Amino acid sequence: MTDNQPSTAASIPHVSDRVFHNYPGAAYILPSDEQEAERLRLQHHVWKAAFEGKILLPPFRDQASYVVLDSGTGADIASQLSPRAILHGIDIEKRLFPPSHPSNMSFSITSITSLPDEWSNKFNFVHQRLLVLALKHKEWPLAVEQIFRVLSPGGWVQFGEFGDWRAGPITEKHRRMHKALLDSRDLNLDIHADLPELLRKASFTNITVEKRTIPLGSWAGKEGVDSRNDIISVFRSLKASVLRSGGLGFVETEEDFDQFIDAVEKEWDETEGAEVNAFIIYAQRPTQ
Ligand SMILES: C[S@@+](CC[C@H](N)C(=O)[O-])C[C@H]1O[C@@H](n2cnc3c(N)ncnc32)[C@H](O)[C@@H]1O
Repeated sequence: MTDNQPSTAASIPHVSDRVFHNYPGAAYILPSDEQEAERLRLQHHVWKAAFEGKILLPPFRDQASYVVLDSGTGADIASQLSPRAILHGIDIEKRLFPPSHPSNMSFSITSITSLPDEWSNKFNFVHQRLLVLALKHKEWPLAVEQIFRVLSPGGWVQFGEFGDWRAGPITEKHRRMHKALLDSRDLNLDIHADLPELLRKASFTNITVEKRTIPLGSWAGKEGVDSRNDIISVFRSLKASVLRSGGLGFVETEEDFDQFIDAVEKEWDETEGAEVNAFIIYAQRPTQ
């Protein structure tokens, strides 16, 4: 399938060569092709640098015997786990699964919103990073409940999500378009802020939030260029979604859309202090 975005009567003509998932009912709006795999590798590097080289923050004990679930897999968490840990990755799309992997790693096409019954109490750690463009409002509490169920008592969960970003007026206008797009798909742009409360409601304890601020744009050297390239690539990937929704009142043609994103990119390069927040939120299932 080359483009599974829902179309409306107001859909604006455009050319899309991106490839999207075809998991029934899933709300995910980013592509799942080689270009996206390349972006995810860059994004992993951006996150790792922002958190001083650490990908996993919970205070693990006896990690060697860990059984780990990675939801929306792709982040290289294996390199920060004991080589004896057993790792299972789930995703709604198999195209991004690694073609070869060590025998302590396995993968399945499964949604975080409906994990198998037999996984109850199975995992010591669940990792999930950057599903803001994947889960609808009402799916987040469901995902958190599922994670609680599959964790063994005392096990940890860690989420990673971007927070707000800022630069200047063009970025602000684009942010409004981005929010309108997510609202139109019932996706939650503020999930980074809502997760601690969702975790509390699901009976998690030791809820901890770590925030970092990442510079955006060439004014900040290589770090700013890498984070700019990562996030601008996300914005460009959302072209089909925005145009199929008739431009959401912000753009009228494909060219308008491309020029709008070019202008955001330029604003970041020219605005010292342009930045985005990144959050890692982790919590523990009570020991009893
Ligand atoms: C933005 S990517 C992030 C990948 C990886 N976690 C990382 O940080 O590099 C989001 C991933 O979540 C997957 N995904 C989307 N909806 C999902 C769902 N309901 N359950 C599990 N994975 C999902 C997508 O297919 C995609 O691989």
